[in-house]
Amino acid sequence: MSSTVRTAIVTGAARGIGAAVAKRLAADGMQVAVLDLDAASCADTVSAIEAAGGKALAVGANVADEASVAAAVEKVAEELGEPTVLINNAGITRDNLLFKMTVEDWDAVMSVHLRGAFLMSRATQKYMVDNKFGRIVNLSSTSAQGNRGQVNYSAAKAGMQGFTKTLAVELGKFGVTANAIAPGFIATEMTAATAERVGVPFEDYKAAAAQQIPVARVGEPDDIAHTASFLASEGAGFVSGQVIYVAGGPKD
Ligand SMILES: NC(=O)c1ccc[n+]([C@@H]2O[C@H](COP(=O)([O-])OP(=O)(O)OC[C@H]3O[C@@H](n4cnc5c(N)ncnc54)[C@H](O)[C@@H]3O)[C@@H](O)[C@H]2O)c1
Repeated sequence: MSSTVRTAIVTGAARGIGAAVAKRLAADGMQVAVLDLDAASCADTVSAIEAAGGKALAVGANVADEASVAAAVEKVAEELGEPTVLINNAGITRDNLLFKMTVEDWDAVMSVHLRGAFLMSRATQKYMVDNKFGRIVNLSSTSAQGNRGQVNYSAAKAGMQGFTKTLAVELGKFGVTANAIAPGFIATEMTAATAERVGVPFEDYKAAAAQQIPVARVGEPDDIAHTASFLASEGAGFVSGQVIYVAGGPKD
């Protein structure tokens, strides 16, 4: 195994799954760019990494904005190192039934997940190709298989799977792998907000979800971080174009 220190970018890493992934990659020995909409919101994740002896950089950027992404990736390359690991994790939900869904809610979800992953991958791939090494991990979801009230989100998360497979096909010969993680129910502010929207206390919401999950519990951000750590590792170079469901069972 190589002892090269890799530089990773984790988008949406101020909290939730992204924060857990950022901390785990730092614990694995990577330098981590903690990217979220507002650099100040990344402070907790950066402090936790530094307190554990790791190296991290807070980066404020909107993944859906081309100029913002270009500036962010340049900053990471200059101030931390050439990014060769990318975790496309930033995400939003704008749930509604089809007949009530606005064009704005459709476009917002498509922009953050699909446009965001596209822009971030395009901006970082040159560093990966130059280094003959790259790991791209995209966050899909069990919602890719269809989920009531999430026509925008499920389309975006299914789109992430096709996007991932094409990245794997195009970039494989440069030492770059691309894989997707499709989480089931993970306890974060995203799922807490969903519980609030449907008017159920989060603890009850989680307990009800756990009853439908074969391992009889909901997921935690560290469950996803563990899988991302494997896919981003040096040794995972022959795993590419895969979608790994991390859902406590074969489906949500
Ligand atoms: N929580 C779950 O059950 C679950 C299940 C399946 C998939 N996912 C996916 O995992 C990822 C992380 O989810 P989470 O639960 O941690 O969500 P979260 O809402 O807790 O965190 C998402 C982060 O992304 C950031 N973000 C949003 N838009 C952004 C943008 N345009 N640019 C940069 N950052 C932006 C937010 O500020 C936030 O810090 C998302 O892609 C989500 O769709 C979550």
